[in-house]
Amino acid sequence: MIEFKNVSKVYNGGVKAIDNVNFKVENGEFVILIGPSGCGKTTLLRMVNQLEDISEGDIILNNTSVKQSNKIEMRRKIGYVIQSNGLFPNMTIEKNVMIVPDLLGWDRKKQQDRFNYLMELIGLHPDEYRKRYPHELSGGQQQRVGVARALAADPPVMLMDEPFGALDPIIRTKLQEEFLQIQKEVNKTILFVSHDIDEAVKMGDKVALLRGGKMMQYDYPSEILHHPANDFVSEFVGQDRVLKSTSLYSVKDLVDEVSLDSYHEADSAQPVNEDTSLRIVISKLLNQEADQLVVEDKQGNKKGKLTLELVEKFLHKEVKETPNR
Ligand SMILES: Nc1ncnc2c1ncn2[C@@H]1O[C@H](COP(=O)(O)OP(=O)(O)O)[C@@H](O)[C@H]1O
Ligand SMILES: [Mg+2]
Repeated sequence: MIEFKNVSKVYNGGVKAIDNVNFKVENGEFVILIGPSGCGKTTLLRMVNQLEDISEGDIILNNTSVKQSNKIEMRRKIGYVIQSNGLFPNMTIEKNVMIVPDLLGWDRKKQQDRFNYLMELIGLHPDEYRKRYPHELSGGQQQRVGVARALAADPPVMLMDEPFGALDPIIRTKLQEEFLQIQKEVNKTILFVSHDIDEAVKMGDKVALLRGGKMMQYDYPSEILHHPANDFVSEFVGQDRVLKSTSLYSVKDLVDEVSLDSYHEADSAQPVNEDTSLRIVISKLLNQEADQLVVEDKQGNKKGKLTLELVEKFLHKEVKETPNR
């Protein structure tokens, strides 16, 4: 668990980068820290692993104040990923990924097994990449290796500072989805910085929205979208909040709420499964790829057909029924 208690940060020169921030990231939770450039996101992360001192208040990491922790030991228990991946250009991919295990004195066999596992996890073939250097990889592959390196010694906590921010939107979307899959397997406590509300809503269990060093709202994505705490939040979220909220739902949620139209073998319809996000469903339906979709369960049984009307009906109900504060 990471707990921020009345945390403030004043840099030399007087800039108050963080102003009395309070929130908790529970174990296993994936929290997105978001806000405009300069609002203090990087500063907040860097105070957790003590790359910056805390001016006032405290940060409690797994029951211990970070101020009282040994910096070096503490950082080994925290995976840290930054935007410019931070790989060492003169080290092979294997050496880069294994830096912390190497420092911890893991034997050769244990390191190799771990390397192979991590590379499979991030979708790169271990033997193909082991001896390569960072410049021999694409930007997206380098970011993945950055993630593998942060996971190497299996730290319980991950701090990720716009890890996919420098990538083009298509690769970014792909890595976001892959990272969500990885998180299901590794189940870390994660504080992940973003400046992109779509990324936040799609990935976060909770979203922390900062402005000028102050916490504007810390809440579930659906609450941020549907019940913004103030005008700033509502402006930051933007206009199309119903559309944004669609990435929070999958076909399964809809199937539980509305009855599907029945499907006949004569109908032509593309299949979608229950885990498909509503956002993808809508884009398929709007892009004229299909005017109806057939919902299949895991065994491939056809459960009925889905149209834009049914999706709209579901969204209106969901958006309306989310209770007001
Ligand atoms: N080392 C530093 N010295 C002085 N001011 C800094 C330093 N690092 C960041 N700042 C200032 O602190 C504020 C927050 O910066 P930062 O945490 O990098 O924001 P973000 O990551 O949200 O873009 C900004 O006003 C920035 O100029
Ligand atoms: Mg930053």
